[in-house]
Amino acid sequence: MSTYTEDSRKVTTHRLKEMKQRGEKISMLTAYDYSMASLIDQAGMDVILVGDSASNVMAGNVTTLPMTLDQMIYHGSSVVKAVKRALVVVDMPFGSYQGNSKEAVASAIRIMKETGADCVKIEGGEEIRESIERILSAGIPVMGHLGLTPQSINKFGTYTVRAKEEAEAQKLIKDAHLLEEIGCFSIVLEKIPAKLAERVSNELSIPIIGIGAGNGTDGQVLVMHDMLGINKGFSPRFLRRYADLHTIITEAVQAYIKDVKTRDFPNEKEQY
Ligand code: KIV
Repeated sequence: MSTYTEDSRKVTTHRLKEMKQRGEKISMLTAYDYSMASLIDQAGMDVILVGDSASNVMAGNVTTLPMTLDQMIYHGSSVVKAVKRALVVVDMPFGSYQGNSKEAVASAIRIMKETGADCVKIEGGEEIRESIERILSAGIPVMGHLGLTPQSINKFGTYTVRAKEEAEAQKLIKDAHLLEEIGCFSIVLEKIPAKLAERVSNELSIPIIGIGAGNGTDGQVLVMHDMLGINKGFSPRFLRRYADLHTIITEAVQAYIKDVKTRDFPNEKEQY
């Protein structure tokens, strides 16, 4: 099967910027383990995000807050071992950078050293400027994340669309410019009005990756379990399902159970 990616060279932060310059959209998807990361990389994904959404889809938590630095490192190093081409981004988990900038750089260094990832992603704007600058000064590329930032869910109180009001939209625009000025190589914009995301994408020269932010951004990101239809219970408007793995896996498991119970499995050819 052919892919949209004929270029097998490793994706770098520099190449993402070139993609934006020539108007080529950037594909990004989450992965948390070796086997899925290997499939996604071989399919031609540009960026693989080891998201702290692992907290929800891997660990079964309601929010991303419980995720620890050690857990992110475990997922990150599993993914990195599988990936040959995609840029690998690892999320900095809640509590690993908000305390102070010294703690932030120590956390980012652990992620880079212990996973072998290419860069980190961090949620927030002006309020974490010092932490981002310190991480950048250690030579670690940083992807920003604005709009709906799930680690702040207890402050927001809801997962509804952010920056619909003028004041919040203005703050988001200001934060996006700030992140570009201090040296972030890209920004994720989550669940904000499409027009606002398009405006930010046009104003900034670094690639803007959207999730629930319309078609005017430089690329798109989704959570792998959602787009493959493993999670049936999560159906936000922005989600497009590309497979129904929930049904495929359920039917396969039920067929196996039946074959075991009826003594059909294993047959003579399946034994020694
Ligand atoms: O953790 C994650 O999966 C993310 C994406 C939703 C962008 O941050």
